Amino acid sequence: MEIIIQPTPEAVSLIAANIIANLVRDKPDCVLGLATGNTPILMYRELVRMHREAGLDFSRVTTFNLDEYVGLSPKHPQSYHAFMHEHLFQHLNVPRQNIHIPNGLAADIAAECAQFELAIRGAGGIDLQVLGIGTDGHIGFNERSSSLASRTRIKTLTEQTRHDNARYFGRPEDVPMHVITMGVGTIMEARQVLLLAFGENKAQVMAAAVEGPISAMNPASILQMHPVAKALLDEPAAAQLTLGDYYRWVYAHKPDWQQFVRGR
Ligand code: PGA
Repeated sequence: MEIIIQPTPEAVSLIAANIIANLVRDKPDCVLGLATGNTPILMYRELVRMHREAGLDFSRVTTFNLDEYVGLSPKHPQSYHAFMHEHLFQHLNVPRQNIHIPNGLAADIAAECAQFELAIRGAGGIDLQVLGIGTDGHIGFNERSSSLASRTRIKTLTEQTRHDNARYFGRPEDVPMHVITMGVGTIMEARQVLLLAFGENKAQVMAAAVEGPISAMNPASILQMHPVAKALLDEPAAAQLTLGDYYRWVYAHKPDWQQFVRGR
């Protein structure tokens, strides 16, 4: 895994946005896997800026989101449909029919999950998947003990995750118990993965994910097996990495042709 440590979330988000922008320029009909939560918001803001100011064109891009709460309508302010509309889609020119987010109101959840997997395959697979990480190591909503080969399916959230996400809902008990999430196996099939983590409350889980044993007790750790995975961290999230100095040194000595931020 390539580990990129930057001083601030802004600096990390700029690099992540540039990696995506480079892909969109090189492959205008690329397929992006997107994430929700606090972590990708600054990166989305930067992509919106690139769209507005530099004409970055998303008109042929297809997107798949990692997950959605079961039981929330797309109009619910805490649904991930609403989140994506607010932070990204209302500002970009991704065609509506190219946007895929699991339907949390589906009457037949299993069929919805199977259809989601088929749609990913039909689009040619995901070129780049953006991930945040839960304080317990979840990616998407694949909680600890998730099968590392799992596909899109329904999951029951842990109390920890519901507690972490309660800040968005009026009352902790309003956080849904169930979600539809891409599986770990689904995520692993993306051609490239960007795992973003900010803040000291992610330091322990990121050290375990990047440097610890591969285990379903930390689903993000499976990314060690991914051929093109990058972990992008701010300094507080990198604080517990054993080889932090080595990763900083490697990044500082990247050859020019490997730089992500072009032409700024
Ligand atoms: P966060 O959530 O970006 O809000 O920290 C990450 C996650 O739970 O996957």
